[in-house]
Amino acid sequence: MVFVEAVAVILAIFIVIVSCLVLYARWNYGKLEKMGIPVIKPHFLLGSTYDLFKKAPPVQDVEWMNQFGSVFGVYEGRDPQLFICDPELIRLVTVKDSQYFDAKRQLEFNDSMLNEMPDFLPGEKWRVVRSTATPAFSGSKIKLMNMAMIESTQDFIRDIEESMKTSNNTRKLERIAIDEALATMLTDLVIRSCFSIKIGDRFNKNNAYHKLVQDLMSPPALTFPSIVSWTYTFPFLLKFLPGTLLSPPAGKDFVQVFKGIMDERRKSGQKFNDVVDLCIEWQDKLGTEEMKKHNVTEDTIMCEALIFFWVGQDQMSTIISTMLYHLAKNPEIENKLLHEITTVFEKHNGLIEHEHLTELPYLLACINEAARLHPYFYRTERVCTKPWKNEQFGLNIPKGMTIQIPIWAANRHPDYFEEPEKYMPERFTPENKDKLHPYALSSFGHGPRNCPGKRFAMETMHLVSAYLLKDLKFEIRSDSELKFKPVGPWMFAPHFPVYMDVLKRENNEP
Ligand code: HEM
Repeated sequence: MVFVEAVAVILAIFIVIVSCLVLYARWNYGKLEKMGIPVIKPHFLLGSTYDLFKKAPPVQDVEWMNQFGSVFGVYEGRDPQLFICDPELIRLVTVKDSQYFDAKRQLEFNDSMLNEMPDFLPGEKWRVVRSTATPAFSGSKIKLMNMAMIESTQDFIRDIEESMKTSNNTRKLERIAIDEALATMLTDLVIRSCFSIKIGDRFNKNNAYHKLVQDLMSPPALTFPSIVSWTYTFPFLLKFLPGTLLSPPAGKDFVQVFKGIMDERRKSGQKFNDVVDLCIEWQDKLGTEEMKKHNVTEDTIMCEALIFFWVGQDQMSTIISTMLYHLAKNPEIENKLLHEITTVFEKHNGLIEHEHLTELPYLLACINEAARLHPYFYRTERVCTKPWKNEQFGLNIPKGMTIQIPIWAANRHPDYFEEPEKYMPERFTPENKDKLHPYALSSFGHGPRNCPGKRFAMETMHLVSAYLLKDLKFEIRSDSELKFKPVGPWMFAPHFPVYMDVLKRENNEP
């Protein structure tokens, strides 16, 4: 009898717990439907994203946009989110009425340093951090970085040419994973230009710095992607997982390395006016009232340094390598571009710097078109901080709702981009670019919370591509493909290696 009662009590407790969990999981269901927008039908418990990672999420976003239109609702687990792909609505949310959308979600990176990720800091703290970091990418600082960028690219080209000499065919390297090679080069370039350091073994993909980036982007929990879907519905599970967005151990390794760099700089007493100096100045201000008031700590500085070190390489290497892939598939575009590049190099005696980049508008158009098609950072977001009503779009957005801007999908909006999947740099040439809606291309975001690294990234990609294309030709192989992985960290869309053959270009031959 006692046994039966005990079983009954345990069963009752079990039923109560399960019912509470079900109630919790489904608590927000119906909120999006009440807004009168199309909604991606949610699973009984796991929201609309229950089969997350079955296909690459940005590809899923495009399918949703094509099926449901420019504005639709998605339950990311239990979180009701509004997805917006219309450029006019993107303008309202990110720029005109940005005071109503003045936050991003507070994400759990499972690490005190990674939790200081600048995008996700609360309002006032974000403003302090952003204003401290912004001077790092002023026009004059970027100009100063030019030589480091050029030298890094030229060393890389020299390395490739050396490898050719030792291979069977002295003018060709076969089956190079071009995105991986470029990522190692860009790691070297960022360290030279932002930290003023030259590293040994710099183009080896197993070098310590490159490995740090790779480790950071391989959070252990992603080995079990279906568990990640459950964390969207039951966020407390995150506390038990070893990092779902980025890898905390790699973050700790970075802190150790960067503190060593700062110590060396302090000991040497040298000044380079770079990111290391900026972080040292910042560290010296840590005790001030303003820093204390906003809880700016050593972790905040380390996370900012991490952003400078890491955030651009994979994005820039994806954009450049996808551009090389499309150029190789479109010889007419490639020839037109090559003509522009060789003319400008000849005019300036083989040295292109910052002030000559305006003479390469077609190259800029080719980069913008690659950035449109393959924005590695495939979504960005805003959180509504004050209720917002808009008649034009018939929207009544409550405080606390997350607005997702699916960049990858919005950049393919069929009303703004004819043949959206086609690589057509002509969209961004000086004659045509004013015909585009100014908010149709969202690769770097918009408004006060846009990407502060855009100027640095665009200058780097412009210079690196000019030098690469002058000396090297990239050819398609039968196994070349641009295929994106279904599972990736945070909001990044990693892809499988882009294999290409690399040839030495002689005397400006096409
Ligand atoms: C091709 C390269 C890059 C692309 C495509 C890119 C893209 C983006 C995008 C889409 C956002 C979100 C913007 C928004 O929500 O409106 C962002 C934010 C950010 N990016 Fe970049 N980025 C690139 C390179 C860099 C670099 C080199 C840095 C270097 C420091 C950087 C630092 C940041 C930071 C700190 C934020 C957060 C901004 C904030 O909330 O204040 N990015 N980036």
